[in-house]
Amino acid sequence: MESAEAKKVMLSGIQPSGELHLGNYLGAVKNWVALADAFDCYYFMADMHTITVRQEPKELRRRTTEQLAEYIACGLDPEKNTLFIQSHVHEHAELGWILNCYTMFGELSRMTQFKDKSAKHANNINGGLFTYPALMAADILLYQPDYVPVGEDQKQHCELTRDIAIRFNNLYGETFKVPEPYIPKTGARIMSLSDPTSKMSKSDPAGCVFIMDRPEDVARKFKRAVTDSDTERCVRFDPENKPGVSNLMNIYSAVTGRSLDRVEKEFEGQGYGVFKAAVGDAVVETLRPIREQAGRLIADKAYIKQVYTDGDLKASRVARRTLRKVYRKVGFVEKPFE
Ligand code: TYM
Repeated sequence: MESAEAKKVMLSGIQPSGELHLGNYLGAVKNWVALADAFDCYYFMADMHTITVRQEPKELRRRTTEQLAEYIACGLDPEKNTLFIQSHVHEHAELGWILNCYTMFGELSRMTQFKDKSAKHANNINGGLFTYPALMAADILLYQPDYVPVGEDQKQHCELTRDIAIRFNNLYGETFKVPEPYIPKTGARIMSLSDPTSKMSKSDPAGCVFIMDRPEDVARKFKRAVTDSDTERCVRFDPENKPGVSNLMNIYSAVTGRSLDRVEKEFEGQGYGVFKAAVGDAVVETLRPIREQAGRLIADKAYIKQVYTDGDLKASRVARRTLRKVYRKVGFVEKPFE
């Protein structure tokens, strides 16, 4: 039998700052599920990242464990994947501090997520929001992954992680594996259904389909999806001139596995109404079993607690090993006992 050590490592996380949505599913979780057998996988709830924006504590706690239930319902088997809560593994904060000291002000200033979020939360541009990518680099580098499966919007953070790892390795010798972002061909950037020029996100509930939405709500959101005002009115992939239709085609292609060419042929001669309803139906059927299974798991609090307890143990073991190495490299005196 192949040992876990021989497998390549994957790691990723999602902030439990809102409910899991279709963008998170198609851009990230769906691919995590597909990779579980071939890789040694670590997936976590990035709760420490969420407090860069004010959260209601009770809600954050609820969403963190519910997100874990949703991960499992999406198909992440806790026997095959290490599923854990970021704040349980204190090494994230510790390595995060160290990497802050190897990340440049200029680099952090160029991050588009920082620019977007500081525009949105102008009354709370805190230090954590600015140094967020150094914590994200710590999340990743602690586990020495080969790949980081994320949507398109996290590519810049992954590239900065690589730069930080290379900088550290150059100073102290080989310490971190330099990971690659792993971005899916379809579904990497799902746009809002109400404004197809901006990314689908939890901050725009009308244009966002949540995993736990009721089927009738999902269908309604697709029926109301903004299409394009061009005269052509045909289903053709052209993100620049037909962003609404192209986004729906992307979603349909990602959930059915059909190529964009095939989708174009399938809806040849049909109007937008028929197409939107078909995309809605396909998404409803994809989400139905996930929603039902998540509902059952959310009710089983003891099971969920067991999963994150086991995940913490496994993740902490790996994280501790990397952190010890880093402490030694930077010149900290070894702690006499653990
Ligand atoms: P977050 O929580 O914003 O998003 C989680 C994952 O979902 C993807 N995603 C999308 N993909 C396609 N279309 C969309 N509209 C869409 N919206 C979100 C994101 O690309 C991401 O893969 N900083 C990260 C969380 C994080 C992390 C990490 C990720 C913290 N530490 C370490 C990887 C490794 C974030 O805010 O993602």
